[in-house]
Amino acid sequence: PITPLVDRFGRVHDSVRISVTDRCNIRCFYCMPETGAQFMNKDRLLSFEEIRRLATILVTRAGVRDIRITGGEPLVRRELSTLISKLAAIDGLEDLSMTTNGILLAEHAAQLREAGLRRVNISLDTLDADVFRKISRRDGLEKTIAGIDAAIAVGFDSVKLNSLAITGITEKEVAALVRFAIDRRVTMRFIEFMPLDTDKAWTHDKVLTGDRLLVILRDHFGEVIERPRSVASQPAEEFLVDGHPVGIIRSVTAPFCSGCNRIRITADGGVRNCLFAAGETPLRELMRSGATDEELLAQVQASVTGKAAAHGIDEDGFIPPDRPMYAIGG
Ligand code: GTP
Ligand code: 5AD
Ligand code: SF4
Repeated sequence: PITPLVDRFGRVHDSVRISVTDRCNIRCFYCMPETGAQFMNKDRLLSFEEIRRLATILVTRAGVRDIRITGGEPLVRRELSTLISKLAAIDGLEDLSMTTNGILLAEHAAQLREAGLRRVNISLDTLDADVFRKISRRDGLEKTIAGIDAAIAVGFDSVKLNSLAITGITEKEVAALVRFAIDRRVTMRFIEFMPLDTDKAWTHDKVLTGDRLLVILRDHFGEVIERPRSVASQPAEEFLVDGHPVGIIRSVTAPFCSGCNRIRITADGGVRNCLFAAGETPLRELMRSGATDEELLAQVQASVTGKAAAHGIDEDGFIPPDRPMYAIGG
């Protein structure tokens, strides 16, 4: 029997984001400190078998339909396609996707596709190598673009690009980024900068808002047509620009919390009920000391029951999460 993960506000949680590592091959300032961080020891990471077990319980007993693999950068975890095959084989799973910075994707795209990965979202904040280096404190633009092209070539069901929108950085590239996506027939999505950076450099004025982005898009492309969200739980609002879909994720100025259907599993096996959760429910030691499926499910449900209505970034007393973005999984 399936018992869905319903919270106090009636939201059904049928989408799980599983982080497979907190490590990354670049150092985006909106996420990581420049010097890197104290990363998790290997023995703290869930094994592929532990992830498979958890995912199977969630799909077959709690009605989860979608799994998205995240990081850090998921492709720095060795043999990731082995995990993808294990997950793709779970009966009842409808969607299996990954969010990546794309740098290692050209090497792995074909194998991931073969293993059963359906969709990929790839970060692309800039088309300028110098700006890339400024944002991520590493080189990597060429490899990212090669990764995007490889993903398109192997024929994933969908390839979307994520562009973090930041005041003073993104404005002048909005049109070029949209053109880049249109040329490749993929969807560009702009994301409002959220207070999740380790350096705590986030301020409200650095958020290049959805409203500002729309002004820029209209300036460059003329009419921008708003389309109804195709799925209520999707973070992106959809627009047609020059006849092509463009998404805007207004996590700060128009949060989609009321439609949220997601929980997260951190790389070290904690359940987090929100990107902005102040705490988590650890599962790893339970699993390693012989917990039953029922016991694990009860822990996940308890986490969902404790979920807040919304993140409250703009409210007095907002407390940023107790883990940085790279250790939560984005
Ligand atoms: P699709 O199923 O393709 O729509 O995936 P997605 O957009 O949910 O996944 P992706 O990892 O590409 O997320 C894009 C951006 O949306 C992230 O970088 C975050 O900025 C934001 N985002 C994702 N999940 C959440 C969430 O639960 N809360 C908030 N506030 N933002 C989120
Ligand atoms: N605010 C919003 N999105 C962020 N990401 C990383 N840090 C932040 C932040 N502070 C996004 C990246 C990438 C995904 C993994 O998370 O843009 O698309
Ligand atoms: Fe790495 Fe993603 Fe964080 Fe950038 S945002 S440092 S690509 S984990």
